[in-house]
Amino acid sequence: MRRTLLLAASIAAGFLNASLFAADLTIQIDAAKEGAKINPRFYGIFLEEINHGVDGGLYAEMIQNRAFEDAKAPEGFTYQTAEQVAAAAAAAREARGRGRGRGGAPAPSGFRGTDSKGGRWVDPGLYATTFVWDADKSLPYWSLITEGGASAAMSLDQSNPLHENSPRCCKFEITSLPANGRAAIANAGFCARPGASAVGVQQGEKYEVSFFVRAQAFAGPVTVSVEGPDGPVTNLATIQIVDGAIPDGRSQWAQYKATLIAAKTESQGRFVLAAGSTGTLWLDFVSLFPAKTFKDRPNGMRSDIAQMLADLKPGFVRFPGGCVVEAATVETAYNWKDTVGPLEGRKEVWNAWDYRRTHGMGLYEYMQFIEDLGAQPMYVAFAGQTCIYRAPEVVPMEQMQPIVQSYLDLVEYANGPANSQWGKLRAQAGHAAPFNLQMIEIGNENTGQAYTQRYNLIFNALKEKYPGIQTIADLPLRGSKVEMIDDHHYHDPNWFFNNTHTFDNRDRSAPPLYLGETAVTSGRGVGPERGNLLAALAEGAFLMGAERNADVVKMVSYAPLLGHVNGRTELAGAPPPWHAMIYFDSLHSFGTVSYYLWKTLGVNVPSVNLSTTLTEAHAQTGIPGNVGVGTWGTQAEYKDFKVEGKDGKVLYAGDFAKGSDGWTTEGGRWSITDGAYRQGANQNGFAYVGDETWTDYTLTTKARKIAGGEGFLIIFGHKGGDRYWWNIGAYGNTRHEIEMNQAVIGRAVDGTIESDKWYDIKLQVEGQHVRAWLNGELVHDIQLPQPPGPVSAIAGRDDATGEIILKVINRGAEPHTATLDLAGVAAVEPKAKAVVLSSSALTDNNTMDQPHKIMPKESEVTVSGPKFDHEFPAYSLTVLRVKPRK
Ligand code: AHR
Repeated sequence: MRRTLLLAASIAAGFLNASLFAADLTIQIDAAKEGAKINPRFYGIFLEEINHGVDGGLYAEMIQNRAFEDAKAPEGFTYQTAEQVAAAAAAAREARGRGRGRGGAPAPSGFRGTDSKGGRWVDPGLYATTFVWDADKSLPYWSLITEGGASAAMSLDQSNPLHENSPRCCKFEITSLPANGRAAIANAGFCARPGASAVGVQQGEKYEVSFFVRAQAFAGPVTVSVEGPDGPVTNLATIQIVDGAIPDGRSQWAQYKATLIAAKTESQGRFVLAAGSTGTLWLDFVSLFPAKTFKDRPNGMRSDIAQMLADLKPGFVRFPGGCVVEAATVETAYNWKDTVGPLEGRKEVWNAWDYRRTHGMGLYEYMQFIEDLGAQPMYVAFAGQTCIYRAPEVVPMEQMQPIVQSYLDLVEYANGPANSQWGKLRAQAGHAAPFNLQMIEIGNENTGQAYTQRYNLIFNALKEKYPGIQTIADLPLRGSKVEMIDDHHYHDPNWFFNNTHTFDNRDRSAPPLYLGETAVTSGRGVGPERGNLLAALAEGAFLMGAERNADVVKMVSYAPLLGHVNGRTELAGAPPPWHAMIYFDSLHSFGTVSYYLWKTLGVNVPSVNLSTTLTEAHAQTGIPGNVGVGTWGTQAEYKDFKVEGKDGKVLYAGDFAKGSDGWTTEGGRWSITDGAYRQGANQNGFAYVGDETWTDYTLTTKARKIAGGEGFLIIFGHKGGDRYWWNIGAYGNTRHEIEMNQAVIGRAVDGTIESDKWYDIKLQVEGQHVRAWLNGELVHDIQLPQPPGPVSAIAGRDDATGEIILKVINRGAEPHTATLDLAGVAAVEPKAKAVVLSSSALTDNNTMDQPHKIMPKESEVTVSGPKFDHEFPAYSLTVLRVKPRK
């Protein structure tokens, strides 16, 4: 503790260069030994409509369900009654009982999304979505206000629509309005908690109201305002509506506008539109928009969130998804043509993430925003296969032509001349110059033969017409031409720390990688405001490994980027919002530690890597840890389990006939059955024995598979959160591999385990050398990499400034002092810049209440020469910028 305090004091005093402790590390940077050049647009962002990141978030519209389309049934889904749901549940139970849980039709997913009548909306593959409204009857997020003896009704109406793509509107009938009465409709804003409202306004700011209306027998004005729990918080703008009754009894749509100014700040307001007389109003496209948007764009972005994205200085923006692109049904897959043109003519579509997307932020707005960020666009387009994690459907090959054509039209819309068919639409929207779209990803997380066929079709058509477009595939696709692969990584922190070297061994002749979705998504705390310092440092260590291998990793981005703190909680049965890098409510936003880590890395990208060697004075050798057995979704049993030390001394010999003393279990159903140690459920289960200090030994056992989809797990080096195992019959019983924390090390070997057959297993660990035999045959003979120490480092040179940029992550609980040796550098400028992101606990994060608790801190440090000591605080990322002297 004292050491940490002293260190904190030294940081505050700016004396980082004067080491308090003897160096326990050496970091040698060879300025003459260049590694891979780094793409200046290496760090980007992935912007998807998930967790209300766009509608209700970045896109500045404040009214939820402004077009009254939210009660439209999800396209391509059908309604199952409560009886049908019960029958499906019984069938699923029976199928599971017969052991058909895997592979067949997906089991109904926990019956999420059942409505108040017990029914639910399912796609053709029985994937259920959480649409809970009364289709074509409800007016979600709107409510009726009648006070002081007024009487009125509000209903959904589809007669005489404003636009054929937006056929629903709100019919507001006011039958009685006494002098002191009030008849009004109100909107609660995006992601309001039940019984509350969530329209947020800032004191002194202006808000633009607009709506389309038809009126019949209506004499009075309408009044619009935002109200807080204690009354209006803006002015009340009065608008005289012209009663457009025409002889056939209907009236014409007309648009009206007004400006509101907030007299006080309110985060729980509601938008109110009150009638000034009796009569009937049909309302559509009721919008409330901040007058001030990012870069003052009309129909633009919320300034605070947009500015946070701009501060990341992204090199590119991948959009609009993600699963949003593929969706659960072909009908809901993303079609950019629905998203351009006048707002009220844009077709709203049910979203893969369980709400309707408005397309207010359409292709044009995305492109304009990306240009405003100074980034390059990367469009991800539907490839004819819906999301593989839902119940995938494919578009038949003979119906793919319109999809292929939409890729070609997309390029013309973005880049074509202002007089071309699609380029004209862009020019009419306000951007005559091309948007310079150069990157297109064909599909998202698609797979299998179905994807290969559709990818080839799209790739060939696109490259033939636009050879300069850089395409991105989801998989390596043997036999197809692949220019770049988008690889996604969602794991726990250990996985990321343990995979900092994963790209070192990548085949340099394989297509380069784009790590499009990279985030710690487990083991990082619970609640709506997820994320913490541990997650951020783990991502950072992995990203540094990617940067070091910038010849094979060309770009990286986090996912998901944005999340409303209440995103999705408004729907009964909907899952909680997923994690995000930036969280917000109706007024505020904050970045998680991951946000600041990615930002720090993203604004410190060198031009070229420099050879960097980190040597620990007291490096760990061997693979210390206890041992054990386990299963993955499989039942198996083990006997004659023995561990012998290097000298032949028996460290453990298990006679399971006598019990399982000394063993501890984690998951599964473990029992002693007929003298064997049995995991008797088709589950993941692990059992451990021995001592965490064990390093060199030979483990032998016999194993028999009973049932399930895989084979055996032989555990070794289990210490703290780390665990190695020999996975025998991995990947659905197709191969054997040595893994550390589930990441494969070395080569997988094809093989299968038969049920009801005893196998002889032998595993030998000598230092980091591991050999493994199955029935006497040597299957693996590998040298495991040095277990990662707490510190990782990379360095590079920024050609623009000449500075050497050193990045160091210390994930340990102790500070570490390193001797930094800049080989090939004769002298350095005495002042260097340090940026440190750290906190006292790995579980720390920023929150809405403490948005700036963990921020990068900049300081100037004095450097004595090209060889100097520097301390790296516990739990920290440090960036040092040192300038060699000419
Ligand atoms: O980032 C959230 C989702 O995760 C993306 O939509 C999808 O590509 C991935 O499965």
